[in-house]
Amino acid sequence: MSSFRTLDDLGDVTGKVALVRVDLNLPMDGGSVTDTTRVEAAKPTIMELVDAGAKVLLLAHFGRPKGARNSTMSVSMTLDAVEDVLGKEVMFIPEVQGPVVAQSIGILRNGDIGLLENTRFWPGEEANDAEFAAGIAANADFFVNDAFSAAHRAHATTEGLARILPAFAGRAMEKELTALEAALEKPEQPVAAVVGGAKVSSKLAVLENLVGKVQHLIIGGGMANTFLAARGVDVGKSLCEHDLTDTANAIMDAADHAGCTVHLPYDVVVSKEFSANPASLRVCNVHEVAEDEMILDVGPQAVEALGDVLKTCKTLVWNGPMGAFETEPFDDATVALAKTAAALTIGESLVSVAGGGDTVAALNHAGVAQDFSYISTAGGAFLEWMEGKELPGVTALKK
Ligand code: 3PG
Repeated sequence: MSSFRTLDDLGDVTGKVALVRVDLNLPMDGGSVTDTTRVEAAKPTIMELVDAGAKVLLLAHFGRPKGARNSTMSVSMTLDAVEDVLGKEVMFIPEVQGPVVAQSIGILRNGDIGLLENTRFWPGEEANDAEFAAGIAANADFFVNDAFSAAHRAHATTEGLARILPAFAGRAMEKELTALEAALEKPEQPVAAVVGGAKVSSKLAVLENLVGKVQHLIIGGGMANTFLAARGVDVGKSLCEHDLTDTANAIMDAADHAGCTVHLPYDVVVSKEFSANPASLRVCNVHEVAEDEMILDVGPQAVEALGDVLKTCKTLVWNGPMGAFETEPFDDATVALAKTAAALTIGESLVSVAGGGDTVAALNHAGVAQDFSYISTAGGAFLEWMEGKELPGVTALKK
């Protein structure tokens, strides 16, 4: 973390105006926030600045309003949730720059918090327009970025501001970068990666990057079917991207060259229909899938063998479920492997890092999310990090 300035590098901030980029792109249902994890993640940074006597202006995007005001995407919809989590009143300011913001800062006392409007209401945000960023910066003394999950966007408030104002990584950003560095940049070896989810096409770059970095690549979910098909297995009616079998073979060849073992299931859970507890459910060898059956989960023997692989590893990176985990009993493999990873983490033989929307839901479902070493709140940013890409929001914070 030495390449970033953190809150430890801030001098006296009493009365100073802090622009703090957070991620308030929160899941909503019928006008109320259903998950406040991202607010909780940003709370230590916000409260540290509050306690230090700064005037804290929160900056965030919400949805994709495409550069125009849209009342259904006002950040004010998250205000109640933000106040609840912080346990403190927050003043909503319906602009991001100009006299309204300046006047509001005049009203805020030291240690007070303001929430600025959705940054994406202005086209300058996504265009990363320097003038737009300068207008926001004009009201502030320094910038703190605590939104790793938006750091894959080169936008005015995720990247541009860091080039104009003295810029610091917030506590959540610092924790995230430290954990990710420990997982893929300087990991203790051997490293295993679990990559699951429906489609190879959505995670091609992830797989291509990982084969050069990890010793064990465990492929699950629908994407395993494409790899099985590439190896000549008849996967019946399973979800499978037959047009990508050459790509799957190329990834397996690259893995061979790099000394990375690709683990595919050898027994699977199949059914003729995709519904909860279907009558036609059975476990079979991958070579015994009937033409009217589909693979919906990794089988128990393979899961046990994968657990043994994890026992030989020191680091685990996990993205994507092993099966159709939202529908029982096709959650079995994901739950079992997650429990093994959690137990190894508790026993301190494994550092486990997981991220991505589905993954966090799957680990919560398995009841082990709290036992992993680190769970990223990021979706797209976590994937881009797994692809080995530079994240503009992170690069801009470098000293
Ligand atoms: C997210 O929810 O993953 C981040 O806030 C980024 O949102 P975006 O995909 O709309 O840029």
